[in-house]
Amino acid sequence: MRSLLFVSCLLLAQTKAIDPPSELLICKMHDTDCIAKSIKSALLLLQNGRKDLGIPPIDPIHLANMHIPGSGGQVDLEQTYEPIDVFGLSASSILDGSVDMDNGNCEITMNSLSPHVEIIGQYKFTGKLLLFQINGFGRCNVTLINLSSKHTMKCEHVDVDGEEHLRVTDYKLDMQPESIMYEFENMVDGNRAISDEVLKVMNENNLDIYAEIKKDYDRTFAEIFYHITNKIFNNIPKKKLFLE
Ligand SMILES: *[C@@H]1O[C@H](CO)[C@@H](O)[C@H](O)[C@H]1NC(C)=O
Ligand SMILES: *[C@@H]1O[C@H](CO)[C@@H](O)[C@H](O)[C@H]1NC(C)=O
Repeated sequence: MRSLLFVSCLLLAQTKAIDPPSELLICKMHDTDCIAKSIKSALLLLQNGRKDLGIPPIDPIHLANMHIPGSGGQVDLEQTYEPIDVFGLSASSILDGSVDMDNGNCEITMNSLSPHVEIIGQYKFTGKLLLFQINGFGRCNVTLINLSSKHTMKCEHVDVDGEEHLRVTDYKLDMQPESIMYEFENMVDGNRAISDEVLKVMNENNLDIYAEIKKDYDRTFAEIFYHITNKIFNNIPKKKLFLE
């Protein structure tokens, strides 16, 4: 009994007070060059995830499912992706980053550029795409080329076990690729010819199609990044992430 208690104390102790990986670059909040480099180093460190920080791999990011409801307009599709993997985010460059914690503010912003992101998985669509009635499912590959992303996080300071931590309260994302390649097999179930035609139209109008689904992509990816960022903030006290 006593040894069981001892073991559970050890396990509990392990979940607390984690030091950041020593390779992580720690910056002063006003040093925007350093912040950009630090975020880049974090991306590479987290590529395969960190079990001790409870962070799953970020390249690929694996999602058991992702659901986007239909929302009217030219692309009125209920989209289910199950499962789905997002490849290529760890190769992003961080163009700039800033942390504003003056005068009671708590805001973190960054701009990133991801040269090649592939979203690979199984999809199911029902609804309408332009003039086509869609009821498809199968393999998909959405490839985003030169994806520019603007990340805006609102945050707050919280107490975790007597230490000050940051917590993101709102994560906004604005993602714009230079171009996209879509591959959805079998979009009109059982009709190969029309499926191919729909796909051709999608690819000929790749950025217009993206404009229709952009806000859903922004919101879905913002939610993913929100969880990853809060895992990091929840595990590592603020004073170990930033120099005063
Ligand atoms: C996804 O599509 C891109 C662009 O067509 C291609 O380069 C890549 O090999 C595809 N990936 C997979 C896993 O099929
Ligand atoms: C991506 O952007 C870079 C820098 O602007 C450019 O050199 C490159 O050709 C672009 N890649 C593609 C595939 O268009």
